[in-house]
Amino acid sequence: MFQRAFDAAELLPELKAHPRVTLGQGPTPLELLPTLGEKLGITLWTKRDDCNGLAFGGNKVRQLEYYFGRAQAAGADTVLITGALQSNFVRLAAAAACRMGWRAEVQLEERVAKNDPLYRANGNVLLDHLFGAGIHFFPEGENERAADRNLDRIAERLAAQGRKPYVIHLGMDHPPYGALGYAAAAAETWSQLRELDEEATHVVLASGSGLTHAGFLAGARALEWDIPVAGICVRRSAELQRPRVEQRAEEVAALLGRESLIGPEDVDVDDGVLAPGYGHLNDETLAAIRLGARCEGLLLDPVYTGRCLAGLIRQVESGRIPQGARVVFLHTGGTPALFAYQRDLEPALMDAAAGRP
Ligand SMILES: Cc1ncc(COP(=O)(O)O)c(C=O)c1O
Repeated sequence: MFQRAFDAAELLPELKAHPRVTLGQGPTPLELLPTLGEKLGITLWTKRDDCNGLAFGGNKVRQLEYYFGRAQAAGADTVLITGALQSNFVRLAAAAACRMGWRAEVQLEERVAKNDPLYRANGNVLLDHLFGAGIHFFPEGENERAADRNLDRIAERLAAQGRKPYVIHLGMDHPPYGALGYAAAAAETWSQLRELDEEATHVVLASGSGLTHAGFLAGARALEWDIPVAGICVRRSAELQRPRVEQRAEEVAALLGRESLIGPEDVDVDDGVLAPGYGHLNDETLAAIRLGARCEGLLLDPVYTGRCLAGLIRQVESGRIPQGARVVFLHTGGTPALFAYQRDLEPALMDAAAGRP
């Protein structure tokens, strides 16, 4: 296992131009999943970004390190963030604010039509309260600009009261600083594979806001690592996600001081397991969650990582990922949502309890 201290900026010196605070622990393990891999006919590793230390971990820790770096440089004492009711980003921003001695003001959007009391109060919502975040509700869920504008309004009010707010915007009209964390993660993964003397043929990750996807892709290409990076769509159709990831990847490349790093052929998005839509469990995701748990003791969530493994499995079944491939599955966290989705998960898990995967 790769244990020594790792500084991605040694491989991508351009990262040094961007302020960052350390919120998570790294490098995260790159773990072999032998049983699941054998079942699928591939060599399968998981990059355990769910194990990066802060408040149940997850990909958003690496992204927040760059936003919080900018907030600190700006002298902030409060961060504002917006997300779905069960947002992992929001939960981790609230936790990170505690660690910095700051306040978090979080805006929870109605992205998923669910009246289940567990969805509305357990999982990430419970943790937002535990971290003492100021909570604001926002009735829309599909309008990033409106959500950002509302955050800006809250920030103006706080500034008038003497606070120093920093807004983490979601919309495409703001730079994707958080994606730098995934350029760094690509460098970390590349180094781990080299250290293990292993070659991977594919990376598979969940593609939502697209910052993880775009950051990993730009980081890989900046290292001249030509590996295909498949984004499993968890929020939008491939038609909408492709231009989003393309734009974000070009922006990350520019933040790294590179031009013409990403071509359209680099952007691989797959919405084959997206139905019935963001935040709604489907049978393939449920099967993937069960398989991860029962083959490897791995916890995957209903919104992101379970769906991502479902997409990976489908790509193996269709031959898009060939037998014998050597695949890195990025575990982006999200596990608190398991408890918010208890009602969706429980019946199927009970039904299958007697049988094996
Ligand atoms: C657990 C988890 N995995 C994956 C993603 C998708 O990452 P991104 O928004 O960077 O595309 C998210 C986004 O919220 C997430 O919370």
